[in-house]
Amino acid sequence: MLFPDYRPRRLRQNETLRRMIRETHLRADDMILPLFVTGGNGIQNPIPSMPGQFQLSIDRLIGVAGEAFELGIPAIILFGIPDKKDPEGSGAYKKDGIVQLAVRSVKDALPELAVITDVCLCEYTSHGHCGVIADQQVDNDATLELLARAALSHAEAGADMVAPSDMMDGRVAEIRETLDESGFSHIPIMSYAAKYCSAYYGPFREAAGSAPQFGDRRSYQMDPANSIEAIREVTLDVEEGADIIMVKPALAYLDIIRSVREEIDLPVAAYNVSGEYAMIKAAAQMGWLDGSKVMMETLLAIKRAGAELILTYFAIEAAKVLEASS
Ligand code: PBG
Ligand code: ZN
Repeated sequence: MLFPDYRPRRLRQNETLRRMIRETHLRADDMILPLFVTGGNGIQNPIPSMPGQFQLSIDRLIGVAGEAFELGIPAIILFGIPDKKDPEGSGAYKKDGIVQLAVRSVKDALPELAVITDVCLCEYTSHGHCGVIADQQVDNDATLELLARAALSHAEAGADMVAPSDMMDGRVAEIRETLDESGFSHIPIMSYAAKYCSAYYGPFREAAGSAPQFGDRRSYQMDPANSIEAIREVTLDVEEGADIIMVKPALAYLDIIRSVREEIDLPVAAYNVSGEYAMIKAAAQMGWLDGSKVMMETLLAIKRAGAELILTYFAIEAAKVLEASS
C-alpha cells in the first residue's frame, strides 16, 4: 500500500494513538544505579565531570540508595574508593574493605534493594590496572584468583550479584567455581562480557581514581573496531556460567547490543557510561540541548537496541521523569 492509500501519519495524530502503537517502554525496573563509595562520614564529594554524581560515605550512600529504591529502581552497583592502594589491589578482597562494609550497611538498611558489586582490581591497585602486573604486563592467570577472592568477599558481605569488569580470560568460570564451592551457588554473575577499550570511561576514572599509571587497557579490553569478536567474548562468558551479559559502553555500541540480543538467550544489560552521562550534562549546562529529553531518548534507544537492563547514572533522574508522567 502506497501513498495516498497508506498514510503513516494517521497513527501519529494524537497522543492516545501514539501510546497505542508505541513499541518500547522504559521503566524504573530496567535501571541499575552505579554509586561510588568512600570512607568517612557525612561525605558527599561532587565529581566535577559528572554533575549530580558524588563520592559518598556509607551513611550518605544509604540515603541515595533509599531514594532510588523509593522510586522503584530495583538495584544499585557499587564501586569502591579505598583509602590505600597497593600493587596487588588487596583492598578489593579484604573482609572489611570499603565495598564489603558498604554492602553490609546497605543490605541492613534496605534489604529489598538488590546490591550488585563491581568486581575488579583497578580501583585498588597502585598502578591502576585491572589485574596484577608481571614484566609490565597484566598477568591474566595470576589475576583470576584475586578476582574470585573479591567476588567471594562481596558475596560473604551479602551482595546479591557480582559483576566482573576486568576482562581477564576465564574469570567468569573462576568466580563461578569459587562461589559454588563456598555455598554461594545462588548468587548470579553479571559479566561485563563485551567491554570495549573506550575513551568514554574518562570521567569514571576521575571519580574512582582508577586511571592506569602507565600504558592503557588495550591488552585486555576490546578493540572498538570489532563486532564479530564481541559475539565470541559473550559466548565464552555464557559457557563459563554468566547469568546476565553486559555490553559496555552503550551509545556508540548500539549495534553490538542488538547483535548480542539476537545471538544470546540470556538477559542483556548495557552500561550507559560516565562519558555518555558527561556529554549530555555538559551540553545541557551550556543550554545547547534539553538535558532531560535527551536523557530519556538515550535510555529508550539503548532499550530499543535490545538491552533489558541499563546501568545508568541517570537512573534517579529518569525514574522521576517516569513517575511524573505516569
Ligand atoms: C573498572 C570499571 C570501569 C568502568 C566500570 N568498571 C573503568 C575502566 O574499565 O577503566 C567504567 C564505567 C563508566 O565509565 O561509567 N574496570
Ligand atoms: Zn578495572
